[in-house]
Amino acid sequence: MSSAFTSRLWRHVTLFDGLQTLPKPMAVWIKNDQIAGVWPESEFRTELAPGVERTEVGGVMTPGLVDCHTHLVYAGQRAGEFEQRLEGASYAEIARAGGGILGTVRATRAASEADLFALSLPRLQALADEGVTTVEIKSGYGLTVADELKLLRVARQLGEALPVRVITTLLGAHAVPPEFQGDAEGYVDLVCREMIPAAVAEGLADAVDVFCEGIAFSPAQCERVFLAAREHGLPIKAHAEQLSNLGGSVLAARLGALSTDHVEYLDGAGVRAMAAAGTVAVLLPGAFLMLGETQHPPVELLRRYGVPMALASDVNPGTSPLYLPTLIAHLGCTLFRLTPREALTGITAHAAQALGRPELGRIQVGAPADLCLWDVGQPAELAYEVRPGRLRQRVFGGEVQHVR
Ligand code: NIG
Ligand code: FE
Repeated sequence: MSSAFTSRLWRHVTLFDGLQTLPKPMAVWIKNDQIAGVWPESEFRTELAPGVERTEVGGVMTPGLVDCHTHLVYAGQRAGEFEQRLEGASYAEIARAGGGILGTVRATRAASEADLFALSLPRLQALADEGVTTVEIKSGYGLTVADELKLLRVARQLGEALPVRVITTLLGAHAVPPEFQGDAEGYVDLVCREMIPAAVAEGLADAVDVFCEGIAFSPAQCERVFLAAREHGLPIKAHAEQLSNLGGSVLAARLGALSTDHVEYLDGAGVRAMAAAGTVAVLLPGAFLMLGETQHPPVELLRRYGVPMALASDVNPGTSPLYLPTLIAHLGCTLFRLTPREALTGITAHAAQALGRPELGRIQVGAPADLCLWDVGQPAELAYEVRPGRLRQRVFGGEVQHVR
């Protein structure tokens, strides 16, 4: 059930505003699609919030959750590869043998736009049901101009079909497709000269991403993609330092990247470059967990240099088929030693910053009214317990959905 109201009020909420938990009970007022007032209860007077149609009392309020890194438009599944890995094969070995990402590329190329939409809708619904109001969706399983545009179109359609803000990212440089084996440079030419311009012409990409890794693209190749993106006015980001350190984060940060993602192998030079550029470190504990990685992202160093840390699901069929954002927060704490506050900031304010949309992850006057109301005692419980079904209300652009 959902209904649009022009003026709604929440009283006596424990408020996590995206950066911190406020020390006192708070009142939050929304008008139309915006947050119109935030007050400590002790200062609230009814005349401050005129025309209120509904009032809700109690609960923990957070910004709507932001999942800033997903690959949720794809066909097929990789349960067989999961089993192979459990028997000892590594992610890189499977990729080199033509499995991994390329296995999903084969299935995704064979799927129509309608097929992909039907497959992806319940995936996005699953995230929305757990409080996600903004999601980034990458292409990267098409690897031809037509197939990459197909994925991005589906991503846009998903954002029209469900009450979720969808931000799209062109990840043409995800893997070298079979028809370009031995000619990565030729494929990068295609990405730069045809794919990026075509995506821009149709307004399908909000950013451009690359996979900078031994099994994918070199820093020099990634740089070409970044420069092409920048020529077209698109922000950039990178999968970097996931399996080794090639310096992708330094490169991306120097070119003004919004984020570099994974970053387990990030070193001091990378951290400093990111700090200087204001680049967000997007940590992906789901992929770390599922790949059985042992190299941890340099959280202490990131903290010391004040690099904002976001957490994301990385929903994809190979390395992170995990659809529970509060589990991602929990794994950020248990695997990477983030504090619950850092983890919650990681799935709200910093995730929004990684998308270049900082206003989406904060509860402040003038921000879009994307909110979650949770039935928990305090915000830290969201990262502490792994339990679905705690969301009482989800508010998207001022529209209130009663979840339970
Ligand atoms: O973010 N690292 C590269 N890309 C994805 C995995 C994609 C896949 O295995 O299908 C990631 O983990
Ligand atoms: Fe990814």
